[in-house]
Amino acid sequence: MPIQIARDRSPADALLLKSRLLRRWFVAAIAVATTAAAIAVRFSGPADGATAAEGVAPPRGLLAVTHPVSNPPTPEKIELGRQLFFDPVLSRDRTLSCASCHDPQRGYSIGERFARGVGGALGRVHPPTLVNVAYNMMQFWDGRIGSVGGDDSLEQQALEPIRDPREMDLDPEVAAQRLNADPGYRRQFEAVFKGPATPELIAKAIATFERTLLFGDSPYDRYTAGDKKAMSEAAIRGRDLFFWKATCSACHRGPNLTDNAFHPGIAVRTVDLADRGTADDADQGRFAVSGDEAHRGFFKTPTLREVARRSPYMHNGSLATLEAVVARYNEGGVDTHYWPPNRRPLLEQLMALPSKQREHYLKNAAPQLRAGFPLFLTPEEQQDLVTFLREGLTSSSSP
Ligand code: HEC
Ligand code: HEC
Repeated sequence: MPIQIARDRSPADALLLKSRLLRRWFVAAIAVATTAAAIAVRFSGPADGATAAEGVAPPRGLLAVTHPVSNPPTPEKIELGRQLFFDPVLSRDRTLSCASCHDPQRGYSIGERFARGVGGALGRVHPPTLVNVAYNMMQFWDGRIGSVGGDDSLEQQALEPIRDPREMDLDPEVAAQRLNADPGYRRQFEAVFKGPATPELIAKAIATFERTLLFGDSPYDRYTAGDKKAMSEAAIRGRDLFFWKATCSACHRGPNLTDNAFHPGIAVRTVDLADRGTADDADQGRFAVSGDEAHRGFFKTPTLREVARRSPYMHNGSLATLEAVVARYNEGGVDTHYWPPNRRPLLEQLMALPSKQREHYLKNAAPQLRAGFPLFLTPEEQQDLVTFLREGLTSSSSP
């Protein structure tokens, strides 16, 4: 918290504090983060009546999954949802399934920046992973579906890609007719839902399947549970950096390594966004939903579990490797306009301090402030951090 800096001021601290721009920025970030965090606390446990009993038990390191009371899981429903997820019958020309853009072999995303829908149109953003998607309170990079505290965002989301002309481009009613014309699906819907397929039931089945995409029990989880041999020395050093000097855990925290909140991305310069407010500009992020100026260029923090199984990274897929991601964070991101005009002298002062003292300031600076600020990681430290992401957060159960 910023108060820690204020306690013992040095010239470097004073400069940090003086930056009104920086403060404005992290006040906005804190506001968004605390709302989500406060609500996350309320909803961290399974809701009344909803249990994971018939869903899939969470692997080590993850919390129990909450299923909406209106859509309890059964093994047959999960299986139906799994078939639908992989079936191109849900796209207009029967060429794309959900898995075309959320490919298990690619960490439930794709290897390109943008996907093409059935009409050949390019998507606006990079498909996010569906790893541990059950824990998202809001869906999409800008969180436009779902609500803080809601538990049925996946049901709400599932028909969107089917309908979307840039994706599967099929009227969900037509999708239901197709399924009802298939004796196998007809039987399954009768068995699971006691009736024929409808758009609502298609969404329920797919959502139930998505809640089984749970990935935990990684070397990091086993290390945390006490197995000190579960990670290499380099990954252990990287873990310490992640939670401490590099302050990644300011946002990538909790069992799923996300705070379920919105923060400035490191892939687009927020300063460039103000003049480009068109409805189609996906770089606007959360601003497009909230209309709040302070949210321009804010995106939902993604989980980092299984992160090495997918690339490229970020909402626009602009960073190809984990090395590039860590290097970008190390530079302080791209939002240089948040930096004080006197940033260079400030950095020089900081660099001139004895390294112990510098570490002290860095450790005690507010995470939000740190996120827009260089991390001063050595090349070896950057490599260790990458090793942690790659080795520590990859489980043996995926895909
Ligand atoms: C043509 C590619 C494509 C297809 C097909 C597709 N998706 Fe997506 N999916 C995307 C993109 C792109 C996004 C991000 C959109 C955004 O944030 O604005 C996304 C986002 C999502 C999200 C939100 C995840 C998060 O963390 O915010 C879920 C859930 C999802 N898709 C499920 C599905 C399901 C279920 C299907 C099949 C019914 C499907 N998708 C089919 C491209 C696709
Ligand atoms: C201020 C909050 C914040 C901090 C601190 C932070 N991140 Fe992020 N991270 C985000 C957000 C928000 C995104 C998505 C940005 C976007 O899509 O443009 C993201 C995206 C990522 C991604 C891409 C994941 C994917 O599926 O595309 C990786 C990898 C990542 N962060 C790693 C790190 C590491 C390593 C650190 C520490 C050096 C870190 N983050 C610190 C908020 C944060």
